[in-house]
Amino acid sequence: MFFKKKQTERVLPRHIAIIMDGNGRWAKKRSLPRSAGHVAGAKTFKDIARYCNKIGLEYLTVYAFSTENWKRPKDEVEGIMRLLRDYLIDAENFKDENIKVKFLGNLEVLDEDIKALIKKNEEGSKNATGLNLNIAINYGGKDEITRAVRDIVKEGIKSEDITEEVISQHLYTKGMPDPDFIIRPSGEYRLSNYLIWQSAYAEYWFSDILWPDFKPRHLEQAIDEFNHRNRRFGGV
Ligand code: FPP
Repeated sequence: MFFKKKQTERVLPRHIAIIMDGNGRWAKKRSLPRSAGHVAGAKTFKDIARYCNKIGLEYLTVYAFSTENWKRPKDEVEGIMRLLRDYLIDAENFKDENIKVKFLGNLEVLDEDIKALIKKNEEGSKNATGLNLNIAINYGGKDEITRAVRDIVKEGIKSEDITEEVISQHLYTKGMPDPDFIIRPSGEYRLSNYLIWQSAYAEYWFSDILWPDFKPRHLEQAIDEFNHRNRRFGGV
């Protein structure tokens, strides 16, 4: 008598957050300037976003530029901003793919043309029903929480009415599910001020792969691993 092994359905995380790390080292290994690593990283970002949309992921949030990244050499910062501009102009290509784009972070300080392009992209994709793609720019978790507290005070919300939910609704991610899976390639084991409030119960996946080398198959490996985690949320 033969027993057919029961195939259990793979569960997708609802919200994957990725720290796109290792661009500089990828370039160094090839004796290229760091900017070449970011160019390769931007391509990987687009490929992975498309792949996440294809498999039906609900939310993907990528860390493209942190509040601390301004400390990098001027030409590197300019290079990343140029890539962002190119992406925003090129993002018209994403239109047919039904991806809804949103930018998280303190966007006020960005160049006017970038801000206008961001607005155009968010407006232009707001009715998309596929992947919700969040791009964190000039984002810092501590900065985000500080701003939330300031807004709560400005709105005159009474201290006894301040709940976790109230704080969540004052973050850039308001209305979104918290990330349940955080991926950091490049052999670093840090959160680096990324979604620090939202990731309280997230699972983590670390790998030595440098971001420009990250392929859909690595994402699949990570999702498989996610499926083997026993998520108890503080219970037993
Ligand atoms: C971290 O690697 C990466 C960044 C600070 C920039 C990430 C930017 C991109 C992937 C491209 C731009 C994105 C968009 C949305 C178009 P690192 O430079 O710290 O690498 P290292 O640790 O090896 O030096």
